[in-house]
Amino acid sequence: MIYPAENLTMKDGRQCTIRSVEPEDAPRMTRYMKIMLGETPFLLRTPEEFNVTEEREAEILAGRRDDPRSLMLVAEVDGEIAACADVQSHGAQSRRFHRAELGISVRKDYWRLGIGSAMMERLIAFARQAAFEQIELTVESKNYRALPLYHKYGFVIYGTRPHGLKYPDGSYDNDYLMIKML
Ligand SMILES: CC(C)(COP(=O)(O)OP(=O)(O)OC[C@H]1O[C@@H](n2cnc3c(N)ncnc32)[C@H](O)[C@@H]1OP(=O)(O)O)[C@@H](O)C(=O)NCCC(=O)NCCS
Repeated sequence: MIYPAENLTMKDGRQCTIRSVEPEDAPRMTRYMKIMLGETPFLLRTPEEFNVTEEREAEILAGRRDDPRSLMLVAEVDGEIAACADVQSHGAQSRRFHRAELGISVRKDYWRLGIGSAMMERLIAFARQAAFEQIELTVESKNYRALPLYHKYGFVIYGTRPHGLKYPDGSYDNDYLMIKML
């Protein structure tokens, strides 16, 4: 799905552009993923586990742009990607047609500037418009930045998966399963 570019004034007064992703973003996107994955322990992959080539990334981004029931937004600052967030169908099957899945990440340099909230608002509006009936996500129980963001936008915890992630020191985090009914 294509979302036209829109300017957002961040909480520090600087500008960023929120727009849907393009296949031409592939080099920027792979750079973004490598950096962003190194800035948080709360996502599934480590930076070393992100091995998507720019060519493959361009194909993936084209698929997201061309899918009317998927929206992948980026926030761009000074020509680089500062954040990425998406909503897509939970699966291709007709019995899961009503379920959407949401993911979001922001580069550390841009945390607490309102980008996450701006993206959540746009994705929730898109999900309604695309006839989804519920948005689902998984978040780590210790992710004290993401949990308030999700609560702010009406997501509630409906389950806990023990030991969803295991870290190199042998410790675990539990997954919270969250849902927002539209
Ligand atoms: C979670 C994340 C997306 C938030 O993005 P953000 O752009 O910083 O969010 P915002 O500036 O819009 O803040 C949104 C709300 O989150 C909450 N929040 C964010 N950081 C917080 C913190 N350190 N402590 C308490 N609340 C926090 C607040 O409720 C805030 O709303 P407010 O500013 O109106 O009080 C960002 O921190 C991030 O990308 N983290 C790493 C990746 C990640 O964890 N992704 C989610 C995986 S499930």
